[in-house]
Amino acid sequence: MSAIPPDEREASAGPTPWYADAFDDLYLRLYAHRDLGEVEALRETLRSRLGLHPPVFDLCCGGGRFLSVAGPQSYGLDLSLPLLAAARRVAPAAPLVRGDMRALPWRDSTFGTLVMLFTCFGYFDTPAEDEAVIREVARVTRPGGVYVLDFLNAERVRRTLVPEGERVIDRQVVRERRWIDEQGPFVRKRIEIGAPANRIYEERVRLYRHDQLQALLERNGFAVSGIWGEYDGRPFVAAESSRAIILGTRRSFVEARSS
Ligand SMILES: C[S@@+](CC[C@H](N)C(=O)[O-])C[C@H]1O[C@@H](n2cnc3c(N)ncnc32)[C@H](O)[C@@H]1O
Repeated sequence: MSAIPPDEREASAGPTPWYADAFDDLYLRLYAHRDLGEVEALRETLRSRLGLHPPVFDLCCGGGRFLSVAGPQSYGLDLSLPLLAAARRVAPAAPLVRGDMRALPWRDSTFGTLVMLFTCFGYFDTPAEDEAVIREVARVTRPGGVYVLDFLNAERVRRTLVPEGERVIDRQVVRERRWIDEQGPFVRKRIEIGAPANRIYEERVRLYRHDQLQALLERNGFAVSGIWGEYDGRPFVAAESSRAIILGTRRSFVEARSS
């Protein structure tokens, strides 16, 4: 068991960055409440409001929740082999690739819709690395294509963060401690499995506000057409929305150069 208190632990310390460690089969059980209902609701909202234009790319597809409902011509990429294996089970026809979101193995202007669902952003040590992700997303999204960045609502996280919790999953005690680290700022979560703990790891997400995300998209080739606060497409309200779902339309290369 680690004797280092959480606020002195560096999420990226050691040879393995936190995001290469945190997403395995246990992740699927810890987040089992993030179910199909959410992604079905989002798919319906996208279809009716913006259209779900193929090919669809689910970047950081995880266990394949969205791919399982996205329809034909849907592609997934993720870093985690166990989660890709889970995605393969629920979306057997979808081409899946193991890779890093900062370097996408596709040609320019490949996709009509690109989704990044459930807080797959803000993982890296520097904002420049996070921005490299948006640049890659812009590169592989075709002009007129839609980018959906489903992120946490930073304002609400700051107000409602539950500092500690304990539950039992598969007869193992799971302890979670959450805190805001103003160095990023990051929202950080330390997870201890077992009592005494036999595994300790961390999740760490840079706490981008919705206006910062909007600016990030705007300066990397997207026009932001709206921000939803829930998967049913309700408008974003900083004080209460559970999500900040940023909707970007890829500008044409001519527009992007002249703006
Ligand atoms: C919070 S989960 C979300 C999964 C999925 N989008 C969903 O809605 O269920 C974040 C995902 O990002 C993936 N991931 C983490 N770092 C990554 C990286 N550098 N490149 C690609 N995928 C990464 C994880 O393996 C995990 O599947």
